[in-house]
Amino acid sequence: MSDDVIRIFDTTLRDGEQSPGCSMNTEEKLQVAEALTELGVDIIEAGFPIASPGDFEAVRQIARRFGDRTTICGLARCRIEDIERAWEALRDAEHARIHVFLATSSIHRKYKLKMDKDQIVRTAVEMVKRARDLCPDIEFSPEDAARTERDFLCEVIEKTIDAGAGTINIPDTVGYAVPPQFGELFAYLRNNVPNIDRAILSAHCHDDLGLAVANSLAAIENGARQVECTINGLGERAGNAALEEIVMALRTRRDYYGCTTNIRTQKLYPTSRLVSSITGMMVQRNKAIVGQNAFAHEAGIHQHGILQERSTYEIMRPEDVGFHGTNLVLGKHSGRHAFRDRVRKLGYELDEQTLNRVFQDFIELADKKKEVYDADIVALIENRRGLDHPETWELVGFHTCAGSPHVVPTATLELKRRGDDTIRRDAAIGDGPIDAVFWALERITGVSARLEDYQVRSVSRGKDAQGEVTLRIVVDGRSYHGHGVSTDVIEASARAYLQALNKAIADVASGRFSDADRKTSAPSL
Ligand code: KIV
Ligand code: ZN
Repeated sequence: MSDDVIRIFDTTLRDGEQSPGCSMNTEEKLQVAEALTELGVDIIEAGFPIASPGDFEAVRQIARRFGDRTTICGLARCRIEDIERAWEALRDAEHARIHVFLATSSIHRKYKLKMDKDQIVRTAVEMVKRARDLCPDIEFSPEDAARTERDFLCEVIEKTIDAGAGTINIPDTVGYAVPPQFGELFAYLRNNVPNIDRAILSAHCHDDLGLAVANSLAAIENGARQVECTINGLGERAGNAALEEIVMALRTRRDYYGCTTNIRTQKLYPTSRLVSSITGMMVQRNKAIVGQNAFAHEAGIHQHGILQERSTYEIMRPEDVGFHGTNLVLGKHSGRHAFRDRVRKLGYELDEQTLNRVFQDFIELADKKKEVYDADIVALIENRRGLDHPETWELVGFHTCAGSPHVVPTATLELKRRGDDTIRRDAAIGDGPIDAVFWALERITGVSARLEDYQVRSVSRGKDAQGEVTLRIVVDGRSYHGHGVSTDVIEASARAYLQALNKAIADVASGRFSDADRKTSAPSL
């Protein structure tokens, strides 16, 4: 008998994006959607179209651009206006899905919805029918299913399947479930919902107890054939189940689960890096599958074992997830062909123009730095993605002065505005050179921001390693991320801060920066 294929439903752009400080603009969402399509996910939940004009636009563009290669899904509450708005955003996709949800647990019925069981069933059935009139592919989620009375859950599921839902998703909305119990719930549903064979069962787990992946796997063992997850486990509170962990658990323990996925696993690491650099959510070093240390062997005994035979201490090959460590690869005399080949091996498909630009960046870096590692090349590719998007302000040059004691840190900055060759200069003082740079950037751009988060880490090893800065600023109540890489951490900081300021400026210019589009005013789930 052939192995079952588990559908991977990625919700990085919807549930993941709901995570505080992780909102993305349309351009960034398109980049993530492209990476998810390349990764091979079966369904992309692209957003919640009623939530804001920005969400709507992102779903619409993703549906148009990628809806012929993968299913694009939009979320809707059990309200006609939500469903119609979702369909408006999705209708250009060849493969579209509307995901309708309504809470079913007694706590949500009583305190949030103030609806009794009959009202819940009637509303869910009516809205699934409405959605089905518009779109052939409907998913229904009884929100907080893991805490819903079982007989009532069976009733809701049976009736929503009759109403036209082809996928029934079981969310553990608050991350309360534990694996044996969650697995048993799936077995129970399969045995007690008479028409369950007409729908695909799906699991949607949150990680409040650190059990989201374990719960998802328990659901698969008991008949779930779709899992909802996010890259790097991004998501509200402690996050959602991590896509890369579920996929690699299924692949590595295929002997046990007897299931496969359509994921091109060599793209996992590049996709993780992309999501991390766009959202500003750094991946912890020891994170399974995509953490920097996930394949590092420090202990002498382990290193010895690995040298004799890799399988002594390695259950997965790093290259199978697209991780190529920090091997010394290329020097400044390496040709374009060798460079292109390495970029491909690292899991990136770049068009000719971008490849040429990254190659130039690489040559410049190789001039500054003795040894260029794979991690440096990955950082250059990600940095170039940011640089190639037209920005209002461009960094031309900077000078800083700092010291101790009794030296007032100062920074002088030179910026150029797009479409205008005049160089603008200004200077500022700060409590350190980076602070002074940030003040000077604000003076020139005229945008004042609050720095919420700032992190710097070295991309590879050695004193001459590139520094990677990830930061988050808040402008008028809205968060923006910035990312910059350079062998000089002050320059990396300046680039990251300027990138974030440019995003805020672009929002104002496009009119996206209206009250209607603020996450705080979006409808609550
Ligand atoms: O966690 C949850 O219940 C959700 C639903 C909208 C599916 O995200
Ligand atoms: Zn969720």
